[in-house]
Amino acid sequence: MQATDFPDPLPQHVAIIMDGNGRWATERGMSRVRGHVAGVQSVREITTECARLHLGSLTLYAFSVENWKRPSTEVRYLMRLLRVFLRRERTTLMKNDVRLRCIGRLDDLPAGALKELRRTERMTAGNTGLVLRLALSYGGRSEISDGLKAFGLDVAQGKVDPKDVDEETLRAYLYDSETPDPDFIIRTAGEMRLSNFLLWQLSYAELYVAQVCWPEFKKEALWKALAAFGERHRKFGLSPEQGGACKSSRSIS
Ligand code: IPE
Ligand code: IPE
Ligand code: MG
Repeated sequence: MQATDFPDPLPQHVAIIMDGNGRWATERGMSRVRGHVAGVQSVREITTECARLHLGSLTLYAFSVENWKRPSTEVRYLMRLLRVFLRRERTTLMKNDVRLRCIGRLDDLPAGALKELRRTERMTAGNTGLVLRLALSYGGRSEISDGLKAFGLDVAQGKVDPKDVDEETLRAYLYDSETPDPDFIIRTAGEMRLSNFLLWQLSYAELYVAQVCWPEFKKEALWKALAAFGERHRKFGLSPEQGGACKSSRSIS
């Protein structure tokens, strides 16, 4: 496929489970953290490419609530990498008109990383291009239970009546109710599981598993994934006659 030849429709919101950093490094005789360092290059390239393609949102699963149980040296290294990434990437995010948002139990992050994160969110708040969402200390179950807790408090204070609850009510209590649900979910390194990612929001996302590890997932791999998305028939529970999607190509310069 050419760099300018893209399937129509492109997804509006791509979510990625960036997996396989450790394996990529181990296979090369390096320590796992070298894999995380290499993974940052892929974050940079994929974000830039999604912005260039005018996608609406990109959500990257960067650190799960379960990942806190990893060895403390690895966790500390990842947090340092996050802090440095945010500081270094601001200029590029501004240049590419990217707005940063974060989802997860952000108060669990070390103060230094949280400060850089809030600073980057503020700085990019006026950007109108791609929304880059980083999922940090994120868990789908934690998101739902945190939302339920906030909902319970509002009920106790008489702000909401449980009789009026529908799907949109629950959505309003999730970490980010503004960004539309992902329509495409990519996982790298060949694993076929969600690992507690966006359990509510992925209800109707198309799934795609890339065999390459995250440090090898560059723009050509993204194009291949997007081409696969363009071939999917999304039906949303309708019968084939009602839900057929057409397949076509369009050019993007
Ligand atoms: C993904 O790579 C990065 C994070 C979860 C932070 P891994 O560190 O999970 O790499 P593998 O899956 O062990 O190879
Ligand atoms: C999922 O990867 C979390 C992130 C990519 C941040 P993991 O490597 O933690 O998931 P499992 O352990 O393979 O399910
Ligand atoms: Mg992994």
